[in-house]
Amino acid sequence: MTNINLLPKAELHIHIEGSLEPEMVFALAAKNGVELPFATVDELKGLQAFTDLQSFLDLYYACMSVLLTEDDFADLASAYLHRAWAQGVRHAELFFDPQAHTSRGVDVDTVINGLQRGLTEARESLGMSGGLILCFLRHLPAEEAMATLESVAHRSGDLLGVGLDSSENGFPPSLFVDVFERARELGLHCVAHAGEEGPPAYVWEALDLLKVERIDHGVRSLEDPELVERLKRDRVPLTVCPLSNVRLGVVGTMAEHRLRDMLDAGLVVTLNSDDPAYFGGYIADNYTAVSTDLGISTEQLRQLAANSLTASFLPEEATRVLLSEIAAWQG
Ligand code: ADE
Ligand code: ZN
Repeated sequence: MTNINLLPKAELHIHIEGSLEPEMVFALAAKNGVELPFATVDELKGLQAFTDLQSFLDLYYACMSVLLTEDDFADLASAYLHRAWAQGVRHAELFFDPQAHTSRGVDVDTVINGLQRGLTEARESLGMSGGLILCFLRHLPAEEAMATLESVAHRSGDLLGVGLDSSENGFPPSLFVDVFERARELGLHCVAHAGEEGPPAYVWEALDLLKVERIDHGVRSLEDPELVERLKRDRVPLTVCPLSNVRLGVVGTMAEHRLRDMLDAGLVVTLNSDDPAYFGGYIADNYTAVSTDLGISTEQLRQLAANSLTASFLPEEATRVLLSEIAAWQG
């Protein structure tokens, strides 16, 4: 019997605010005196029947209004990291959305300091590594993204990189060329969501204009054979999130997911949870779902885990150690 939890892996696509479980939403609302537009945990869970990305984002931003203090962000990160550890995650690169907090009067340093405390706690208590990727909200003007970046430029050493998320259609990567150029100047890694709901053209833009090192989602790349060739040639990793894709209607059912085609095409695919508190599972639940519903083999699961390490921003030596543990996994 395969034990996916024992397969060492990296998580490269987790929005830390998307790990905010309904019970924690209510606990923090009570502690911080925040009024919520829903009365009970069950009512909130009932709202998790999403029709598309935007229907999810509306609830995601509403729930994160309970996050106010450094302790809140530290507790959120700790809770996620311990859960992820139990599912075999040895390294986690956490996305966070500072503009969704600064717009509510929460200082960006409160957010970063809290998340860093969570990462430090996990490093000390579990031996787990990780880092932070600051994401720009693409539905807001690029000038605001640039101002956010400049507000943390003096502490860029506390970040692994930058990303681009939120509503995709109508907000192409080309809007953010200057912001990503500045991020590279600061020595930050660059990634971007593209080809989740948006067209293959957005993946091309992320590669050619933003010069990203990984594409988040990228599942629509399969619609463009030339793009598949490019991703394959340059070994650009794709951080795919199968449970998310089903819950947001990117694919109709898990059985229709094209993960197998992506692997067969020679793409560097990784599996991730995206927003696990909203999509019905954490990272190992994603591995299990593709094994059960798509017939992904034990060897392919091992390959997906190995890809997650080679696609990570971990130093080479630490990557090598974890790759040897993956090779030794019994399946
Ligand atoms: N923010 C949180 N989850 C997201 C997703 N799946 N796509 C775009 N932005 C997001
Ligand atoms: Zn995402």
